[in-house]
Amino acid sequence: MTVKRVGIVGSGIMGSGIAEVAAKAGFEVTLRSRSQSTADRMVAGLEKSLAKQVERGKLEESERDAVLGRVRAVAELGELSECDLVIESIVEDLATKKHLFTELDRICPEHTILATNTSTLPVVEMAMETGRPDKVCGVHFFNPAPMMALVEIVRAITSSDDTIAEATAFATSCGKNAVQVKDQAGFIVNALLFPYLNNAVRLYDAGVATRDDIDAAMKGGCNFPMGPLELLDLVGLDTSLAILDALYTEFKDPNYAPAPLLRRMVSAERLGRKTGVGFYDYKKK
Ligand SMILES: NC(=O)c1ccc[n+]([C@@H]2O[C@H](COP(=O)([O-])OP(=O)(O)OC[C@H]3O[C@@H](n4cnc5c(N)ncnc54)[C@H](O)[C@@H]3O)[C@@H](O)[C@H]2O)c1
Repeated sequence: MTVKRVGIVGSGIMGSGIAEVAAKAGFEVTLRSRSQSTADRMVAGLEKSLAKQVERGKLEESERDAVLGRVRAVAELGELSECDLVIESIVEDLATKKHLFTELDRICPEHTILATNTSTLPVVEMAMETGRPDKVCGVHFFNPAPMMALVEIVRAITSSDDTIAEATAFATSCGKNAVQVKDQAGFIVNALLFPYLNNAVRLYDAGVATRDDIDAAMKGGCNFPMGPLELLDLVGLDTSLAILDALYTEFKDPNYAPAPLLRRMVSAERLGRKTGVGFYDYKKK
């Protein structure tokens, strides 16, 4: 089986980015959001992103039209029934994702690979909701998906070699560098990154340094492109909290126990860029 049609479920930060990547790589993309209006908004966002690339001379107009022609935005899950690969990128919540996998298993033909873009959650638990646990794996893109070179291919203990090979071939066709990793919370990147981000919140909350100085220190001192608090705002504080909770549940390592301030900010709906305020205020910019 060679993947031709890709389904993407979820119209958040990551779903739209993955749709852009896959459509630019030549795949037919069906993008599913829970309402037609958000699905259409995603296509409008994609049009805007491609228009910028044309303006900057990075994309031909004809190529832009071809990419848009490959993307279909839908509200019904049943529209994914012709996909060879479906990547879910909905909220980082295991119960919600498990329910979706049950539905996808019912809708999609036998050959379809069902993948999750989860940052930390156990892929095997989603796989076991289906009648095809061998055809389930993680395909973990990074944010922003069109810019970031890496994809982690996550092998659940049930994933077959064929599934991993197909998922790896898909990521490579998207121009990404695919690495393979076992189904363990945080995989490679988030297992290493999140203790650092979490400790940056603790440092800030303890008043050791200001927000701006913490970010400036890590950019200037470690040559990181973004400071930790800026990065948390980009990822989304709700997603970051869910990632830390999943890591702590798995390892009980205090470094993964979410900083109390992070939880309070999520309660206050200060989720970062997506709500316009997090550690920084984006409404002022
Ligand atoms: N934000 C990141 O930096 C990042 C990076 C890599 C992977 N991820 C993973 O990608 C996935 C999505 O993250 P995101 O940052 O795009 O989040 P987001 O908050 O931007 O979007 C979440 C999406 O899930 C949908 N959703 C919420 N509840 C739902 C439900 N009950 N049923 C169906 N859909 C529902 C929302 O409508 C929205 O479209 C998560 O698994 C996350 O861990 C996130």
